Amino acid sequence: MIGGGYVGLVSGACFAELGHDVAVVEADAAKLASLRAGQIPIFEPGLDTLVASNVRAGRLRFGDDIAGAVAGAEAVFIAVGTPTRRGDGHADLSFVFAAVEQVARVLTAPTVIVTKSTVPVGTGRRIREILTSVRPDLDVDVASNPEFLREGSAIGDFMRPDRVVIGVESERAREVLRQLYRPLYLIEAPILFTSLETAELIKYAANSFLAMKVTFINEMADICERTGADVHDVARGIGLDGRIGKKFLHPGPGFGGSCFPKDTLAMVRIAQDHGAPSRLIEAVVAVNDARKASMAARVIAAAGGNVRGKTVAVLGLTFKPETDDMRDAPSIPVVGRLVEDGAVVRAYDPEGEGQARPVLPDSVIYCRDALDAAQGADVLVVITEWNEFRAIDPARLREAMAGDVVVDLRNLYEPAAMRAAGFRYSSIGRP
Ligand SMILES: NC(=O)c1ccc[n+]([C@@H]2O[C@H](COP(=O)([O-])OP(=O)(O)OC[C@H]3O[C@@H](n4cnc5c(N)ncnc54)[C@H](O)[C@@H]3O)[C@@H](O)[C@H]2O)c1
Repeated sequence: MIGGGYVGLVSGACFAELGHDVAVVEADAAKLASLRAGQIPIFEPGLDTLVASNVRAGRLRFGDDIAGAVAGAEAVFIAVGTPTRRGDGHADLSFVFAAVEQVARVLTAPTVIVTKSTVPVGTGRRIREILTSVRPDLDVDVASNPEFLREGSAIGDFMRPDRVVIGVESERAREVLRQLYRPLYLIEAPILFTSLETAELIKYAANSFLAMKVTFINEMADICERTGADVHDVARGIGLDGRIGKKFLHPGPGFGGSCFPKDTLAMVRIAQDHGAPSRLIEAVVAVNDARKASMAARVIAAAGGNVRGKTVAVLGLTFKPETDDMRDAPSIPVVGRLVEDGAVVRAYDPEGEGQARPVLPDSVIYCRDALDAAQGADVLVVITEWNEFRAIDPARLREAMAGDVVVDLRNLYEPAAMRAAGFRYSSIGRP
């Protein structure tokens, strides 16, 4: 497994749990050192025990020696990052191509190189070209096995996937991957074999569709706010239709995270490059960007049009709960703008503080819990729906705060209960 980040670490540990012998290669020295010391650099429920038990069982190891890791490997997974390329929105494939070259140089026997990273359509072919030029002597197969795990429930998603998608070009690659995923056959996870291009596109199509669903309900929420309708009832009313489905219909401050923003942008570029532009996905990107940028204005308006000198408590910073991931989190533009406009921000996130510090303004005060953040605040904003925020007693919150304004960007609280506690409460798409 080349890359010991979110995907490499989770998939490596899960493959080991399925009984395979896994070597994870990580280039970042600090990350590698903590992995070797038994510390997991990311927060993902259950991952620490899964890694520890498989390391103990001798099925999982970490290192920086690619040659040693790939020697004798039946499959080499590429799980390095594919961030947005600066300036143009394309996926930056430099890490992928560098990893493939490094692997190719040290291969001693035929193997299957499998991309787990999310890569644009056509990347598998380019990898094949690299392999042919670097190692014309070896007959190496290329496969695509996009990963669909969700941060926060990554292990469950890997072990009990809705489906496994595998793009292959040869019977040998198909057989290697079939054997790797055989334990999942036993739980009847559907395994879909496709061409390389199809597998690559499925990943972008899936994320684009989900991002579109989120964006759709966010726009419905705006319409609800203008018409007096309730977006939760709208979501339920449409979601019970099996053709639509209930999931991903929660309104909020706009999607963030390590995948949707960069994958929708890359999908737009892929479509344009192939002369089949997707106006739908282009709109999703634009609508979501505008939404994230506009959330601070909501808070400022709720605070009476000005936050200068006011204290704003922020509950939740990560892009979603059960992760410490801050990549493209909606909290970044919200907190940034509030600080810029002169607010004192007191923030609390159960897991995200370490990742938040480098990306949020230095003046943010990090608090030990939600009530601590609320202490003396004029305004409270909920940005991430961590479970521990749900049970907060509105009366205690009201006591802690100096002001009475709550802006709930995740609809965590019952409007009636919040108003009964004396708050001027606003949420997303609800009267
Ligand atoms: N995070 C998710 O939830 C998720 C879900 C599905 C798919 N993906 C995709 O999986 C890919 C990886 O995402 P991630 O979130 O794990 O990224 P990440 O940045 O957390 O991890 C990538 C890791 O690869 C390491 N690396 C880079 N080049 C290397 C090399 N040549 N040798 C060894 N290690 C190297 C980096 O140091 C880093 O630790 C991306 O394409 C992403 O889109 C991510």
